[in-house]
Order: sequence, then C-alpha cells, then structure tokens
Amino acid sequence: MASPKAIALEFKRELGLHTNIENINHPIVENSPFHFKFFQITDEVENTLFQILDRFLLQLDLIIVRDSVLAAMKETVTNAIKANAKRVFFKNNASDITNDKEYESIINEFKSTYIENRDEIEESLQKNNFGVFVSFIHNRSLMRIRIMNNVQLTPIEAQRIKERISKAKNYNDLADAFMDMSNDQEGAGLGLIMTLMMLKNDGLGESAFKFESSENKTVFMIDIPAKVSKENQQIEKIDHIISQIDHLPTFPKSIKDIQDAIDKPNSSIGTIAEMIKRDIALSANILKLSNSAAFRRGGKVESLDRAIQLIGLKELQTLLYSLATKQMLEDKFPAFAAIWEKSNESAFYCKSIGQKMGLNKSDLSNLIAASLLHDIGEILLLSFDKHHMNKIKTFTSTREIASTISMEESAIGITHSKLGAMVGEKWGFPILYTKAMEYHHRPLLADEVYSDIIYPIYLSDMMIAINSKEAKSSEIPMEILKVCKFQSKAEFDSFRTKIKEQFSAF
Ligand SMILES: [Fe+2]
Ligand SMILES: [Fe+2]
Repeated sequence: MASPKAIALEFKRELGLHTNIENINHPIVENSPFHFKFFQITDEVENTLFQILDRFLLQLDLIIVRDSVLAAMKETVTNAIKANAKRVFFKNNASDITNDKEYESIINEFKSTYIENRDEIEESLQKNNFGVFVSFIHNRSLMRIRIMNNVQLTPIEAQRIKERISKAKNYNDLADAFMDMSNDQEGAGLGLIMTLMMLKNDGLGESAFKFESSENKTVFMIDIPAKVSKENQQIEKIDHIISQIDHLPTFPKSIKDIQDAIDKPNSSIGTIAEMIKRDIALSANILKLSNSAAFRRGGKVESLDRAIQLIGLKELQTLLYSLATKQMLEDKFPAFAAIWEKSNESAFYCKSIGQKMGLNKSDLSNLIAASLLHDIGEILLLSFDKHHMNKIKTFTSTREIASTISMEESAIGITHSKLGAMVGEKWGFPILYTKAMEYHHRPLLADEVYSDIIYPIYLSDMMIAINSKEAKSSEIPMEILKVCKFQSKAEFDSFRTKIKEQFSAF
C-alpha cells in the first residue's frame, strides 16, 4: 500500500481537505486508495471522512462495525492532531520536545492551555505543515484505514500508547477499565482503550488495530477483514439483564380491550371515552398527552372526549401502546421521567419530519407512537445497571466520542435498543415499533421497508444530540437525509433550529 506522500493531493474546497479523489462519489475500486490530508477537524473534514467511511462499509457490506470504527477513527485523528499541536506549541516556545526535562515543564502548560487556545494553535498547524493523512483502501480480504501524521513521537508518548493498547487487550469489559483508570487524573488514556474495546466487541480484536511509531511518522491502522465474526464473552451478564424482563408485568388486558374496541365498525368517541373513564390514571394521561407539544392545537384541553377528538381514534389506538407503557414503568423505574421527556421531544420532531416527508395519517401516527416508545430499553438499562450507565453517560457527554450505544455494548454487553425491542416483543407491540426500537441508532442496518419510521426517529435523536452539542450533523449519512426529504445538511440544520424553537416555545 503506497505512501500518501508519493501521491499528488489537491485541495478540494467542497470536501474541505486535500485529496486524490475528484469528489465524494468518486468510484471505490479495489486496491485503489482514497487519500486525504488535513490540518484541523472542520465540519467539512468530518463530513467527508464519515461519508467516505459509510460508502466503503456499505459497499463491502460491513456497516455492522460502523460505530466502533467511527469511534476509533475519531479517536486516532483527534490524537494525531493533538500530537501535531503539541509540536507547534513546543516550537513556539522554543523548547525541545525530545529533552525530558523541558518536556515535563512545558507539557503541563500545553495541557492547561490547549482547550482555551485550541483554535489558535491548530491554525498554526497548516503554517508549519503538520498534517494528518487518512487513507482508505480495500482488497479482497481486507479494508484498511490508515491514520498517519508526519511527526516522531517521543519515547514516552509512544510507550504510553503501547501501554494502553496492551491494557485494552487484557480488560474483559469496561468496568475493569474504569476501575483501573479511576486514578488516572487525565482520563486521557481511556478514550483509546474504550475504542479498542468497542472494536473488540464488534469482532475486531487485537490484530485489527496497529500502531507504529518510527523516525518521521506515527501510524495507526484499523484493519477490517471482509468477514467479521462477532463473538460475545458477556453472555452471562446479558442473561441476568434479560431475566429481569421476565419480571415485568404483562401488557394490561384493559388497554388491549380498548384497542380492540376501536377496531369495531360501530366504535365512536363516546363509547371509547366511556371505556377509558373507568381507568382514572389512563384518562389523566390521555388528557396530558393531548396537551403536549405533539398534539396541542390552540387552548388547553379539559375534557376526555375533546382530547380523543383531538388525537383521533385510530391515533389513540396506536398511542395506547405508549400510554400503557408509561403506566407500567413510571412508578417502578426512577429513570422513567427523564427518558419520557426526551421521547416527547423526539415525538414532536418526528411529527414535523413525518409531515415534511408527506407521510399519510396512519403512518404518521405510527411514527409518533414509535418515537414515544423508542428508548424504553434505556429506562430499563438505566435501572438495571445504573452504576455502569452513569459512568458511560458522563464519559460520552464530556468527550467527543462515538455514540453511547457502542459504549453500552462494550460495558454491559447489550444495548438499550436490543433490550427495548425485547420488551416490545413481550408486550405484543406492532413489529414497526420493535424495529424502530432495535434500529434507531443503527438505521442503515434495518430493512428498507422500515426506513420511513426508523430514519425520522434516528434524525429526531440526532436533533436532540446536536442541540445539546453531543453530536454533529456531519455524522448523519446523506442517504438518511434524502429519504427524509432533506436535500442537504444545511437544509436539515436550518429545519432543526426552527423546530427546536417551536418546541422550546411550548
Ligand atoms: Fe436510543
Ligand atoms: Fe432516543
């Protein structure tokens, strides 16, 4: 595999970096690498790298490993830029990075000022020609991503990386890593260890990640074999969590009866309202729902009949799944309120996205019901394994690392999406809903027939994450935006801002 230095790279404005390819749709051909060079991570750079990764993975039918590979790519690129920035900082301070004494005294200053002066430091990277090279290549048996920068690491730096890689090999799960790293003030090594464990969980073990430090370059390689086999060593822990699903109540018969009554040809708002009134909690929840952001039109709704009229009988039938879920989980699970609130926001966004897509009434009401339910697995997971989940949450929200979802997999062994789908099955939810629960974080893996429900839910989650600066729209695959009738990321972003304002105004 040829060195990128030997290949002419040209700056492409729309991609935001130097590359040997014409455009984002440049054909992917076996043994013909894509090379990229950049100095800083901008939105365009991220966008380009993520889209290229998706294209390779889709073409090679390896999308299953997207989250962990994306995380590993982010981690190594971020580290490469940081290593470059360090060099510039030492240079600007006229210090010698290879001198141990000087290193010790300057490095603390670098660390304490890096976040603050990041833009300034990174701007001088280009002036000093400290770039990062990323290459994608594949042949019949392997896809390789190489992340390289043209600096030589100090022996201490190289040693530290090697230690982390060997640690990641020995940990069984993230709990081990957390325990071991809790004394590490920087927590800096954890990012690399976590991503390596995510790779391992996706079947990309020791041989998939390589690190080489030589005289004038530092290279990370992520190797994805054409056939990835997934083996999970955490079956026991998963069994424990899954056994708790058996302890959940069954889906209430009274609710099923109402749903069946709505199907009868002579059903009316009056007769259904009569049935509902027998359940005080349910009546109160329907009133509340009719006054929520996704349904309210005009003044406050006070009567049940009016609430049902506003929601619609068919829509009510689908919403009864989420209302019943609320009643079953609310008191038992402390995490309920927070997740439910977020799901309401998601439902509001889904409604807007669904309308923009031109969904018919029944598809739209299924979308809203599914969006309300999509994260119930998280409610359970947070309660079953609180200790781990809190740590994961703190970690992912303080760092720019891939989604929580892969963290859950590496730490706990099961994701909230899988768990939610299992609960949905137990309660006899329509398959559309269980699919939405299962795939809302990995939308590209779902069967195409479910795109209209899974993509909007995924987008609504992304909107929430982007609004709180936990994600960037550059992470969203373009084909998902297209299905949801967004022509560009810019259009999506302005839509997101507008809908967010509407939601907050509520
Ligand atoms: Fe989720
Ligand atoms: Fe969500």
